[in-house]
Amino acid sequence: MKGIVLAGGLGTRLYPLTYVTNKHLLPVYDCPMIFYPIDTLVKAGVTNILIVTSGPHVGHFLGLLKNGKELGVKHLEYVYQEKPDGGIADALSLAEDFADNDSVVVILGDNTTDADISESVKNFTGGALIFLKEVEDASRFGVVELSNDKTGKIIRIIEKPKNPPSNLAVTGLYIYDNSVFSHIERLKPSDRGELEITDINNIYLKLNKLKWVKLNGFWRDAGTFDTLFESSQYWYDKNRPK
Ligand code: TTP
Repeated sequence: MKGIVLAGGLGTRLYPLTYVTNKHLLPVYDCPMIFYPIDTLVKAGVTNILIVTSGPHVGHFLGLLKNGKELGVKHLEYVYQEKPDGGIADALSLAEDFADNDSVVVILGDNTTDADISESVKNFTGGALIFLKEVEDASRFGVVELSNDKTGKIIRIIEKPKNPPSNLAVTGLYIYDNSVFSHIERLKPSDRGELEITDINNIYLKLNKLKWVKLNGFWRDAGTFDTLFESSQYWYDKNRPK
């Protein structure tokens, strides 16, 4: 299993903080944001990691992460996304050579969680696995509708629904088998001009190969002022010397 951290994007919701740096280098309590997703992968035993990034500040990732040893990464690679807002699936497509026919566990660079995903990584047998989290403000997220029977299968994923069918949001953690790359090749950009990861998840859903698991513990994407602040607050409460 290979690990992919997606750290491209423009980070426009954090302007002016992201005028002069990449969002994933901003502090979340006492660490740069990107340390958290890397740590999630390393704790799950995934130590062969690719960082996908973009924009004028990419060189700073190398200075910060170096060869990854300080974070427990055994092998660290970097790749450059030419269109920083090409979409999450566009960023993931750049990992094909690195994946080298293996499965991939993908985490968005602004997601911070203390959930342990090692069992999901260990038990992954193919298809796609998405991680869901109960949220209060479900209409801000991609939300799943689950079947009422005991299979609890996903019926559909709805982007930012006005009337969410559940409070289960799709987080920025995913595990895919290697066919994800051929699925991305066939994707068309959405109305906002991005290759959407939701479209990929819907392809697996149609193929009856989309599974889900609940993410236990704290989870936020730190991409807005509020969630950046909440994330810092959470890690401060958890990690500050007492
Ligand atoms: P978003 O938060 O959807 O996009 P963004 O980071 O550009 O921020 P904003 O909406 O404020 O402009 O992206 C979530 C994560 O996905 C982000 O942390 C980095 C990654 N990403 C890429 O790697 N490449 C991309 O093209 C996009 C859109 C996102």
